[in-house]
Amino acid sequence: MASIKFLGHSCFMIDDGKNNRVLIDPFLTGNPMAASSPEDLNPTLILLTHGHGDHLGDAIEISKRTGAEIMGVFELVNYCMSKGANGHPAHMGGTIPYNFGWVKLVPAFHSSSTPDGTYAGNPVGFLINFYGHHIYHAGDTGIFGDMELIGRLHGVDTALLPIGGTFTMDIPEAIEASGMLKCETVIPMHYNTFPPIEADAEEFKEKVESRSDIKVVILEPGEAYKIPLHFQTPR
Ligand code: NI
Ligand code: MN
Repeated sequence: MASIKFLGHSCFMIDDGKNNRVLIDPFLTGNPMAASSPEDLNPTLILLTHGHGDHLGDAIEISKRTGAEIMGVFELVNYCMSKGANGHPAHMGGTIPYNFGWVKLVPAFHSSSTPDGTYAGNPVGFLINFYGHHIYHAGDTGIFGDMELIGRLHGVDTALLPIGGTFTMDIPEAIEASGMLKCETVIPMHYNTFPPIEADAEEFKEKVESRSDIKVVILEPGEAYKIPLHFQTPR
């Protein structure tokens, strides 16, 4: 059984239980909610939505230790490669094939620079086809109407959506986003790590589930959500 494990903030590990471990936005060092230390993770692929410190996190060190490639937008991945990481530069619209399926880069409305102030290109979200299960990681973003298009073009099974507000969508926007995506399941992220992004995930769950058939799964850092592997051809 494959799983999506929440490691705190916007960090997730998608694991097929065999030989594919996709790590997203590994902000662990300095994260008061981190459920793992970077040394304990052994990803085969690292995805970065943007360059902010709470997303770039420990990615470069983990890549250098494990050899896992960092995939993301051109400017950010080139920055990581200049620091010795293994990288795969790409950009929005691109669909990168992997042996579990593919990863597509989709828009996010935010900004992107690294902690030392380097311009890091555009921020993105990712749509991940993991053996036929489509996982949308929105990255840091406000709501935008083309979330409906992402759902309609590709189909989203599980959406990982920020709910903390201030820097991203808040609960009312994330409720609307869930409806636009027409996903089966939503896992909230990017809340309660720091005081400015405090949010009540139970309130989000009650409101989404009372007005739709969408299921909200609240994961505590360290908890995992099991997903089926369909072994379908990409849709
Ligand atoms: Ni950010
Ligand atoms: Mn952030």
